[in-house]
Amino acid sequence: MSFDRSIKIAPSILSADFADFGREIRAIEAQGADWVHVDVMDGHFVPNLTFGPPAVKAFRPHVKTFMDVHLMIAPVDPYIDAYAEAGADMITAHVEAGPHIHRTLQAIKATGKMAGVSLNPGTPAEAIADVLDLCDMVLVMTVNPGFGGQKFIHSGVEKTRKIRQMIGDRPIHIQIDGGVTPETAPLVAAAGADVLVAGSAVFKGGSVGNPDVYGKNMRAIRAAAEGARKDAA
Ligand code: DX5
Ligand code: ZN
Repeated sequence: MSFDRSIKIAPSILSADFADFGREIRAIEAQGADWVHVDVMDGHFVPNLTFGPPAVKAFRPHVKTFMDVHLMIAPVDPYIDAYAEAGADMITAHVEAGPHIHRTLQAIKATGKMAGVSLNPGTPAEAIADVLDLCDMVLVMTVNPGFGGQKFIHSGVEKTRKIRQMIGDRPIHIQIDGGVTPETAPLVAAAGADVLVAGSAVFKGGSVGNPDVYGKNMRAIRAAAEGARKDAA
């Protein structure tokens, strides 16, 4: 995948109909999703449980764009190969999942997949300074991970600005996850984010039978983010 900093919308299928993932994925892609974001939770690192590698493998044939797998699990290292084999294009691990984020990112890279590092709202930007060269993406969490539909935590905006500076001209994406809406997207887009994850703000009001709403919701987020980029330029 070639690198650019254009705004990309990555719907989180955590907000999709859990009985109909194949059709949900096809619907969001047909409506303009750039990436598909898969939230993996273990009931230990975060207080919720979602998708094991067989589920991710089942999603794979439906994803024609880019499958972005966000691992909210600890330990993470024993599962990297399984999620790579399941067909992830990018695997993101949390710096807080421990114990050795550098080793974890090396292990992701060794699978041939792209590697992301994620920071919770309570973790400062500096925590990833020494692993940036192992990363294709930094994920700034703007909610505490575990659930969709939470309120955006504003300290992520300044953190995004800092990380954008730390990255300089290196080809590293900045992704925002949590509480992204047409109201909050402009704040992070102006601060330097390019990949916007959104669950509830994409799926609300729509369904596989009424997918135009997904398209409308994504266009509202994208237009707000791109507008803020123009204003900041
Ligand atoms: C939170 C997940 C998010 C979540 C976003 O733990 O990582 O991807 O689904 O949901 P919204 O957009 O509803 O905040
Ligand atoms: Zn996520």
